[in-house]
Amino acid sequence: MTDQPDLKDQLLDLAREAARRAGTFLCDGRPDDLGVAATKSSPIDVVTEMDIASEKLITDFLREHRPDDGFLGEEGASTEGSSGVRWIIDPIDGTVNYLYGLPSWAVSIAAAHHGEVVAGVVEVPTRGETFHATLGGGAFRGDTPLRVRPAPPLEQALIATGFSYVTEQRAAQAEVVRQLLPRVRDVRRSGSVAVDLCDLAAGRLDGLYERGLHLWDFAAGDLIVREAGGRSGGRPGQAPGEELTVAGSPGVFAELQPLVDGLGAWHD
Ligand code: IPD
Ligand code: CA
Ligand code: CA
Repeated sequence: MTDQPDLKDQLLDLAREAARRAGTFLCDGRPDDLGVAATKSSPIDVVTEMDIASEKLITDFLREHRPDDGFLGEEGASTEGSSGVRWIIDPIDGTVNYLYGLPSWAVSIAAAHHGEVVAGVVEVPTRGETFHATLGGGAFRGDTPLRVRPAPPLEQALIATGFSYVTEQRAAQAEVVRQLLPRVRDVRRSGSVAVDLCDLAAGRLDGLYERGLHLWDFAAGDLIVREAGGRSGGRPGQAPGEELTVAGSPGVFAELQPLVDGLGAWHD
């Protein structure tokens, strides 16, 4: 990045505008009876339409400004590009919350340059909050710099997690929580890991872990955590990924990563 000092700021500005537009679209365009649709035959289709439309809005906007970039989006955007920049997009993180009218959902957009995430934005429209970070440039909620909270002992730590959509994995995940719960202050399951990562960066959580996440779920939020002074990883010695993602304030991360790894949070 040193050769192009302005690039990450340019990417950040585009990501912020794209996320703002998608957030407005998702709030304004959410049918009033979407919650009712949850009890009808095709609730998932209704939500999927919003996911797809949000991703298209974002990719159309970004492509208009940077036609040579690549894309990785949860709803199917997948192109290589030729500029060295790739956009990583979750058009709604927290789809089930969006369906039910619960507030914890977000639009997550990250920009990677030659494989390294250099800018990230998480827009949480229902809270009126936008989180962002650039690599080496710090993390912010609006204009307010973010810092993770000082680490408490693990038994006083508030830990978030999430559960897979894959039924077979859920029994194993429940077993991990059963063993973790007596060792921490409490456990939260918000339904949006992008929001959880930002809450961690903002000092509203002490740590989180989850199995089965994809790059689009955590790319932006992970940068925001690290730029707020937190740490993240996968299984010990590895990067965050599908097998396991762990994040926390440094002291909590140091205890939580080996603990959940030892409890088997990464396998059935
Ligand atoms: C999901 C949310 C949820 C997490 C799941 C993700 P989606 O993303 O982040 O909190 O537990 O693992 O798949 O499906 O709402 O975009
Ligand atoms: Ca997601
Ligand atoms: Ca999603």
